[in-house]
Parts: sequence; C-alpha cells; structure tokens
Amino acid sequence: MALRNIVTEEDPILHKKSRPIEEITPRIVKLLNDMAETMYYDNRGIGIAAVQVGVLRRAFVVDIGDEHGRINFINPEITSREGEQRCSEGCLSVPGKSGEVMRPEKIHVKATDIDGNPFEMDAEGLLADCICHEYDHLDGILFTDRAIPGTVEDVNAQK
Ligand code: NI
Repeated sequence: MALRNIVTEEDPILHKKSRPIEEITPRIVKLLNDMAETMYYDNRGIGIAAVQVGVLRRAFVVDIGDEHGRINFINPEITSREGEQRCSEGCLSVPGKSGEVMRPEKIHVKATDIDGNPFEMDAEGLLADCICHEYDHLDGILFTDRAIPGTVEDVNAQK
C-alpha cells in the first residue's frame, strides 16, 4: 500500500463525474487499499472517494469506526432514501472547513466489494451520512455545494 496525495477543492477534477469500474483488476484493488491507507493516515477521515486521489472512478471506502470496519464500495447505487437528518460534515478535500448538510436518515445501497462480489446494505445515522457524502463525490458534488447557507465555517478559526 502507499499513501496518495489528496486533491483539494481548488482542483476542478472534484467537480467531474466519475466513470464506472468495468473490471476489478489488481490496479483497482491497489487503488482502494491506497485510498484506505491515505484515509487512515494522519488525515483521519471516515470516508474517501477515488476522485479525491485524482482517479475518476466510481469507488469509495468508508470506516466510521463501528462494527462494520472498512467497507469498500465499487459502482455503488443508493436505491432508497428515507427520512432526513441534519449532519455536520467535513471533507479531506476541503481541509479546515465544516458545514451542515441535510441527508437522508436511512438509505439502502447496492455495490460490488473489493473481491468482485455484489452486496447490499442498509445504513442509517452517521454511516448513511458518510455514504451519501462519498456518493456525491462520484457525481462531482462537494458538501460545500449542498451545505445549508451560512453553515460553512473555518474550523481552525474556532479553536
Ligand atoms: Ni469528502
């Protein structure tokens, strides 16, 4: 595994749509492993999408520190959304900022895992929030694009 550079908000690639992954090659496996390592490293994120390391492919990794541990999503589809929650979010690509975003409280998602097996799962609360945030990255959307007006603030300035 290797650390990759994280693309930050000035880079227009973050507003591009990612393409589906047709085949899970060793290169894709390495990509996901590198993304996870980059997320866990001192950045301490809970999710990272391929575009955030400069690769326009529909994949992300999340780990919110619950019993699921690391979950790899390849070509994910959110197939249902239920309820609403107001979430406080940050992003590895928008360092030093936080903001509040309305997200569904519960979702159902279908994807392929890193071994090429299809899976589906229900998620709620923080996990649903995190998956929705990463899913947005695949369509070129940042949390700052969706934030409730006036809620985006400089985290560093508060401390
Ligand atoms: Ni993000």
